[in-house]
Amino acid sequence: MANYGLDGKVGLVTGGGSGIGEACASVLAGSGATVVVSDLAEHAANRVARDIVEDGGKATPATLDVGDPDAVQALIDSIVAEHGRLDFAVNNAGISGDTVPTGEYSIETWRRVIEINLNAVFYCCRYEIAAMLSNGGGAIVNMASILGSVGFGAAPAYVAAKHGVVGLTRAAALDHATAGIRVNAVGPGFIHTPLLAAAADLVEVNGAVFDVDHGFAGCVAGVNEVLRQQGLLRSARCLSAAERLSPGQRERIGAVRARYPGWLDEQFVAERRDRWLA
Ligand SMILES: NC(=O)c1ccc[n+]([C@@H]2O[C@H](COP(=O)([O-])OP(=O)(O)OC[C@H]3O[C@@H](n4cnc5c(N)ncnc54)[C@H](O)[C@@H]3O)[C@@H](O)[C@H]2O)c1
Repeated sequence: MANYGLDGKVGLVTGGGSGIGEACASVLAGSGATVVVSDLAEHAANRVARDIVEDGGKATPATLDVGDPDAVQALIDSIVAEHGRLDFAVNNAGISGDTVPTGEYSIETWRRVIEINLNAVFYCCRYEIAAMLSNGGGAIVNMASILGSVGFGAAPAYVAAKHGVVGLTRAAALDHATAGIRVNAVGPGFIHTPLLAAAADLVEVNGAVFDVDHGFAGCVAGVNEVLRQQGLLRSARCLSAAERLSPGQRERIGAVRARYPGWLDEQFVAERRDRWLA
């Protein structure tokens, strides 16, 4: 595993109890940083922090709902009080939302997805940057998505939130570059994590768009793959989405296709591809 030489640095990972956040926390701690592994799920944050410590790294768990700005501020204040600084943060916590087209999407789910996937990234940036200003700089990585750059069927709130994360990242980076604070976003493709499993039908019904135009041929990468692509890990594997689907997921995909006949089938995509990507 790569070592980024982070001895003495202190950082926060949100949604660090699973998937991409867990992998980021492990890599950062493996590079010598002290990592506060935060997650809504207390047991998940505890497990990841314990695993890191057992591997010889430095980590502490924290239970945090990123949708609660007061809790975000309180956690960042407590990190600064305990460690004297905050050097980096990975704002990674996120949810998938429903697999429903825009015209039928529930208002309640829209609000929840925007709250966790966009507003909460602002809450985190807001208080992380304030803390970093007092230690002379820092680095923030916001977890966007490939869906922060392109449209995608049946995921309007997720796509809107991730586009918003990209915009927020650009704005915050400009605001604070001269103070030595870097704000970047990462846009992974499809990574095999619990979040993706919950939305596997999305990948399947949209798969042809990405097969043709984005070159990852219906593949879902393991978490290590995205980290390798970002230059963080060497080991990689790539698994077919179809191989990964459980019988229950196949059933859900069948139900979506039965409900929207012809929607996003190969011919539909081929006819519209150039227009979508223009
Ligand atoms: N898996 C993919 O294909 C993929 C692709 C692109 C981007 N992403 C993004 O990567 C990030 C991580 O996703 P993942 O695939 O590792 O998912 P995951 O479900 O494995 O992990 C997400 C973590 O976030 C936590 N979380 C959820 N709501 C929270 C809240 N309100 N407060 C704090 N923590 C909360 C969950 O408990 C979980 O541990 C998300 O922002 C997601 O949108 C994922």
